[in-house]
Amino acid sequence: MRLRKIKNINEKIKKYEGTIAFNAKDNKGMWKKSFGNNNPVYLEIGTGKGNFIIENAKRNPEINYIGCEISDSVIYKAAKKAEGISNLTLINEDAFSLMDIFEDNEIEKIFLNFSDPWPKSRHEKRRLTSPGFLNIYKRILIEKGIIEFKSDNQHLFEYSLIKFNEQKWDFLDLNLNLHKENDEDIITTEYEDKFKALGQPIYYIKVRTK
Ligand SMILES: C[S@@+](CC[C@H](N)C(=O)[O-])C[C@H]1O[C@@H](n2cnc3c(N)ncnc32)[C@H](O)[C@@H]1O
Repeated sequence: MRLRKIKNINEKIKKYEGTIAFNAKDNKGMWKKSFGNNNPVYLEIGTGKGNFIIENAKRNPEINYIGCEISDSVIYKAAKKAEGISNLTLINEDAFSLMDIFEDNEIEKIFLNFSDPWPKSRHEKRRLTSPGFLNIYKRILIEKGIIEFKSDNQHLFEYSLIKFNEQKWDFLDLNLNLHKENDEDIITTEYEDKFKALGQPIYYIKVRTK
């Protein structure tokens, strides 16, 4: 998400200490405890301005949600809207650090929504569905843990299909035009709303670890 760096962001973001877990690594292996319950933990990577995860958290109080976003200026926007939602925590982290933040088998589900496509081959490792990331997800997800992936980008979608297939994830669902039929119950992201309004198809994949 291209957002101009907010002035004095380091100061401003501190106000949201209850909403953003600034010492996320200290919670490794103890996320459920940090939420004060034993409910499942769902993680969104590249949360952006937060609409998707905030709406999910409001609709599903029996699930704990964590939104991971690398940009401080972007997560600040999400934090402003997420204050006071007890089953939602934001973390201002790079997904490359996920194994320092989560213990093996700590997460029930991961959402990858409109991840940056990184089209150049030399940037493949940065794609959030590259084999390196899929290996990390396998570690932090429980057995039979789920990934839900949405994208407008055909290249990233096809690349992700191939990588999930190569790693033998179980395919549970696949849709080439998610919003074509009844989409009332679909919780959307900021990017999704934009592409939907333009009539662009949204690609969707749901996979499960063995
Ligand atoms: C294209 S935007 C999509 C935002 C949101 N998911 C949506 O659909 O509206 C991708 C987001 O992922 C974040 N991001 C990119 N690489 C990341 C990484 N390695 N770790 C965490 N967040 C990342 C970007 O800062 C950006 O906010």
